[in-house]
Amino acid sequence: MIDKNKDNQKEGRILIVDDNLANVKLLERVLSLSGYAGMRTVTDPREVLGIYVEYKPEIILLDINMPHLDGFQVLEQLKEARKDDYFSVIMITAQSEPANRMRALDLGVNDFIGKPFDTTEVLMRIRNMLQIRKLHQQVLEQNRHLENRVEERTRELLDLQIELLTRLARAAEFRDDDTGNHIVRIGRYVSALAKLTGDTGRSCEHAGYASMMHDIGKIGIPDDILMKPGPLTDSEWELMKTHTDIGGDILSNSTHDIIRLGEAVARSHHEWWNGTGYPDSLSGEEIPTIGRIVAICDVFDALLSTRPYKKPWHLDVTLETIRRKSGTQFDPDLVAKFLDNSKIFIDIWQSFQDKEID
Ligand SMILES: [Fe+2]
Ligand SMILES: [Fe+2]
Repeated sequence: MIDKNKDNQKEGRILIVDDNLANVKLLERVLSLSGYAGMRTVTDPREVLGIYVEYKPEIILLDINMPHLDGFQVLEQLKEARKDDYFSVIMITAQSEPANRMRALDLGVNDFIGKPFDTTEVLMRIRNMLQIRKLHQQVLEQNRHLENRVEERTRELLDLQIELLTRLARAAEFRDDDTGNHIVRIGRYVSALAKLTGDTGRSCEHAGYASMMHDIGKIGIPDDILMKPGPLTDSEWELMKTHTDIGGDILSNSTHDIIRLGEAVARSHHEWWNGTGYPDSLSGEEIPTIGRIVAICDVFDALLSTRPYKKPWHLDVTLETIRRKSGTQFDPDLVAKFLDNSKIFIDIWQSFQDKEID
């Protein structure tokens, strides 16, 4: 009989498993009178697993001696479920042999109630078990909350890193690209080409951000060279080429992956596949992949753009130039992937023309 006074109602999903219907009824009555409502009972132990899945009890009161499956076998069946779910098992038993108790404890039984049972003892043990489960749930909840906070903070730090990198890259390009769109496009092209090489998710994202820093070393190049409207003299050109080393030095010795990748990009984006590039005359796969990727994307974007010393090139001529430089300036495999998917890169070019960096 359920207590009609709602204030006395107690929370707790309790499953009673006993082949003896009289025992089941007695326990059910004791619990109901004490205020527990909505408990489930079963006299056939073969049904326990199914009921567990659907009802998710917090406590199972389990008889040992039952036909078909004894209490130990039921515990075996519940073993897997208990790995992910904390629920208590109280064994109801007339057996007091230590060996059986040991076996039950070994199988994860939390407590015992002797038969014939004392109602007060039953209720107190159930109350204790429910309290333990509640504490367990609170700890789980707290852990989940902490994990979410850590994830959130990590994401915030990463966002901050990326924002600072983007702004730093923009500062470096500011004198010849005041909208910042060149670096935004480079980030997008590089991320897309990295994806075409088989890189996934976060790694493509990082490649994109790192590539924005390719020309960060231009910070060290004087205005009259960087913004010169005509061709550079040999000595001016030599000075211009130092932007790769300057950029590499600015980003050197970092312990952060994106910045280390940025260092590789800054140093290697003017290396040529055939070894005639600068600053280190690296060739083929000696050149970091990210440097080979940026090399193609940077030239694609530069040829299509207006610069102080040149008018924008036509798209067909630009693509043809990239094809022609495959195997000399550029990695042939990357050129093939770039040209086979040129629509992706043309779309990026068209999408980021006049928008300010966000
Ligand atoms: Fe450069
Ligand atoms: Fe560039």
